[in-house]
Amino acid sequence: MILSGKVALVTGASKGLGRSMAEALSRAGARCVLVSRDLDLLRVVEEGIRASGGDAVSYECDVRSEASVGALRSQVSELFGKVHILINNAGVNVRKPVTEFTMEEWRRVLDTNLTGAFLMCREFVPLMVGQSYGRIINMTSIMSHVALPHRTAYAASKSGLLGFTKALALELASERITVNGISPGPIATEMNLPIIENPQANQQFVSRIPIGSWGRVEDIGALALYLCSDAAGFITGTDIRIDGGWTAQ
Ligand SMILES: NC(=O)c1ccc[n+]([C@@H]2O[C@H](COP(=O)([O-])OP(=O)(O)OC[C@H]3O[C@@H](n4cnc5c(N)ncnc54)[C@H](OP(=O)(O)O)[C@@H]3O)[C@@H](O)[C@H]2O)c1
Repeated sequence: MILSGKVALVTGASKGLGRSMAEALSRAGARCVLVSRDLDLLRVVEEGIRASGGDAVSYECDVRSEASVGALRSQVSELFGKVHILINNAGVNVRKPVTEFTMEEWRRVLDTNLTGAFLMCREFVPLMVGQSYGRIINMTSIMSHVALPHRTAYAASKSGLLGFTKALALELASERITVNGISPGPIATEMNLPIIENPQANQQFVSRIPIGSWGRVEDIGALALYLCSDAAGFITGTDIRIDGGWTAQ
């Protein structure tokens, strides 16, 4: 139980990678604060964690909204007083040619993936300082490093998040709060259903993954757990790719 007594807040914990990371941290003893816009889905995750002997609470919050994130901070502060681990995982993707993007779509991607992480850090870093331990993980992407057509908003948001990660790491290093990115390659989650459910697109995509298959959500949970452990206390301001070899090509 290497995270016993630690409070871990995970955004986008209702499914996919966020759910896997929350479950991994809770198995290691962390008390998890599960956050997304869908309280019903969060409660399913929460019940699973409790059924396995863990501890979790769920909060509805839209990370794009200053008011919503501010209200979340008040509730978490009242319940726990402090936070040790913050995982900025909530994210969305819109895949289309740049000429077809509406302002709403562009803003939805940037506001969720980049501004959401900023708002969460602005509100929760004050609850993390003064403990000589802290872990912030931002869910970057292979699209922080390389690109594909029809991913302009997503690649812009994830590249921005990588820069944000490095600057914040320097800001918080003296507090012993580490700030790192995890850059997953293709992992089979709901976000990738448009590719997975199209046999031709799926085959093309998989043929580009050197390992030869989609990654598993558990792989990301295990890496997040390591980054939150004491063993990773000297890792900060960097970004770890977990991509089946995609960016080595
Ligand atoms: N899967 C991959 O291959 C992959 C690769 C690289 C990076 N990533 C990144 O990893 C993260 C998780 O991806 P995933 O594959 O697990 O996606 P997913 O299954 O679609 O889950 C996305 C999560 O984000 C939450 N979310 C979206 N907008 C939100 C908002 N405005 N406020 C609060 N929560 C919000 C969703 O919750 P609700 O809908 O319940 O609000 C959901 O829990 C994302 O940042 C994604 O960009 C994924």
